Amino acid sequence: MRIIELQPNTECPDSYREQVHRLLFQEWPNAVENSHASWPTEPLNWNPVTILFINKLRNVVGLVIVQSTNYKEREIIYKVSGIGSMIISKEIRGIGYGKKLFRRADKVIGRNGNDFGVFTCDEKLVPFYTAYGWKSYEKVELIGGTKETPFSSWDAKKVTMLKAYSKRAKKEWEKIASSKIFLELGQGKLW
Ligand SMILES: CC(C)(COP(=O)(O)OP(=O)(O)OC[C@H]1O[C@@H](n2cnc3c(N)ncnc32)[C@H](O)[C@@H]1OP(=O)(O)O)[C@@H](O)C(=O)NCCC(=O)NCCS
Repeated sequence: MRIIELQPNTECPDSYREQVHRLLFQEWPNAVENSHASWPTEPLNWNPVTILFINKLRNVVGLVIVQSTNYKEREIIYKVSGIGSMIISKEIRGIGYGKKLFRRADKVIGRNGNDFGVFTCDEKLVPFYTAYGWKSYEKVELIGGTKETPFSSWDAKKVTMLKAYSKRAKKEWEKIASSKIFLELGQGKLW
């Protein structure tokens, strides 16, 4: 089993593209609208890094996408990243691969010069994500979507996960981790 990282401009074999799409479609058929291989579909201005788990047969058996943007709070512009599309193939769940993939995502976020990391998950998955310094913040509302049509983590019944990486984020942590975090992520989008 090996892990590879794909930047937006990396050549991606068609077979990987199709398998990624299949994995996503099996888990979230409503979110993946059509069945042709259109991944990666993430907006390029989020500078997505796709991390793939590849088995010995060169099949994609896991995926997570790290995305990045800016967040302005009290005149400070922070660089932030989150994760999306975290998935491990059904046949190999529960034996530690998800944790390995998340560890790599955490490293990618850490080395990208980020101030902090933020994303949301279902409450039942909080214990899975509280590794490598990540914590759940029930009182922090992550608001994605657009200014005109915001999309709240509270409305979606998701828990916000956060981790400070930079010195200035650590210094301002009380303010960051006690407020609403609004990220303009596009219509209907939430990390
Ligand atoms: C979430 C997911 C990626 C975890 O991958 P995995 O390979 O099964 O995870 P691991 O084997 O590394 O499990 C690590 C820990 O998380 C726990 N865990 C994993 N999935 C869980 C779930 N659905 N509910 C509760 N706990 C879970 C495991 O029990 C394990 O705990 P332990 O370390 O105390 O033994 C995988 O279950 C998956 O693809 N789920 C469907 C898609 C999804 O929900 N993605 C997350 C979107 S936020």
